[in-house]
Amino acid sequence: MSTVLVTGGAGYIGSHTVIELHNNGYDIVIVDNFYNSKPEVLNRLETITGKRFPFYKVDCCDKDALRKVFEENEIDSIIHFAGLKAVGESVRIPLKYYKNNIDSLINTVELAGEYKVRKLVFSSSATVYGMSEDVPFTEESPLGVCTNPYGWTKWMIEQILRDYSVSDPDMKICLLRYFNPVGAHESGLIGEDPRGIPNNLFPYISKVAGGTLAQLTIFGDDYDTPDGTCVRDYIHVTDLATGHVKAIEYLGKCEENVCVFNLGTGNGTSVKEAVAAFEKACGHEIPHVFGPRRPGDIAVSYAATDKAADKLGFTARYNIDDMCSSCWKWQTMNPDGLPD
Ligand code: NAD
Ligand code: UD1
Repeated sequence: MSTVLVTGGAGYIGSHTVIELHNNGYDIVIVDNFYNSKPEVLNRLETITGKRFPFYKVDCCDKDALRKVFEENEIDSIIHFAGLKAVGESVRIPLKYYKNNIDSLINTVELAGEYKVRKLVFSSSATVYGMSEDVPFTEESPLGVCTNPYGWTKWMIEQILRDYSVSDPDMKICLLRYFNPVGAHESGLIGEDPRGIPNNLFPYISKVAGGTLAQLTIFGDDYDTPDGTCVRDYIHVTDLATGHVKAIEYLGKCEENVCVFNLGTGNGTSVKEAVAAFEKACGHEIPHVFGPRRPGDIAVSYAATDKAADKLGFTARYNIDDMCSSCWKWQTMNPDGLPD
């Protein structure tokens, strides 16, 4: 069976994807430098799957160290998750974001070329659609102007990969544009484990529901949306993980050198609706107040899902209630996140 190199495989989406790859019969090699994850994830993956996956504690920016991974394993395809993703932090330390995200990608692609790895999946984001509100976003929607360095790294890497594909037509590349990944594995053993006070909605609500944070501030209730709060396309992380398995399968048979897919549900959920769904899941009220809009937020974002459905055969299975209940299970089983 073919071996998938999963960079950033100890992280939130990477770890869930490792499970889905394993369930579909793939062999897996994980690379991570634990910048934003913990070694305990590997134990949890072993508990869930019954398998200890080969692991390298390597920074993908260190090409010599990364080369060893290619030298020691027969890699058939790569899913490149390794990257920094905190929007606010990217504004404070932009060079670190550009350096980490772009260097790690370039090293990975150079080694993929050298070792004749023919399939590469990259974690992009709906953030590349910029501030447009022409929803739903289709894969043909124009790329926008990003509002932060994190978003630009995704935008630039997409371009780098399109350019690279012209020079190496044997390599098949898939750009996956995620909408808002949330939720946790059904076991409650792995989930999103942000360091410090979370910035994103679901990790924040989880901490308020669990009593670690006092209240949620809803950023803006005067948007031009049905209830005045922002609308997003939340997608269960297990669905997202399945989308990666489908992408690897697709790269094995597609004609085009570069393909692009949205991974979302196609459904919009407002912040108020998300809070109500979480209250239902945890069985008590989530204290919240309304505050000003957060700079850089758009009113509405959701995916056109037809292309992923037609070509990848991917359709999300889980709804917002499933996302909230799995988040809550993860939160109650791991109130302080994973141990160091
Ligand atoms: P995450 O931070 O949980 O996972 C990323 C992993 O990569 C972490 O374990 C981190 O330690 C590792 N890493 C970072 N830089 C590295 C390097 N140079 N070498 C080796 N390992 C490195 O984030 P996630 O939510 O799982 O996101 C995975 C990917 O998906 C990222 O590229 C992210 O930008 C992208 N993405 C995430 C979201 C989201 O909402 N979570 C949305 C769109 C795109
Ligand atoms: C954010 C990033 C995006 C990134 C994505 C995944 C911004 C502007 N965008 O998307 O680039 O790809 O995360 O990591 O940061 N909200 C509250 N209160 C909170 C937190 C959030 O009301 O405490 C609201 C936000 O205003 C937004 C919604 O909840 O309307 C979702 O926010 P969030 O989870 O941060 O995701 P995005 O902003 O969609």
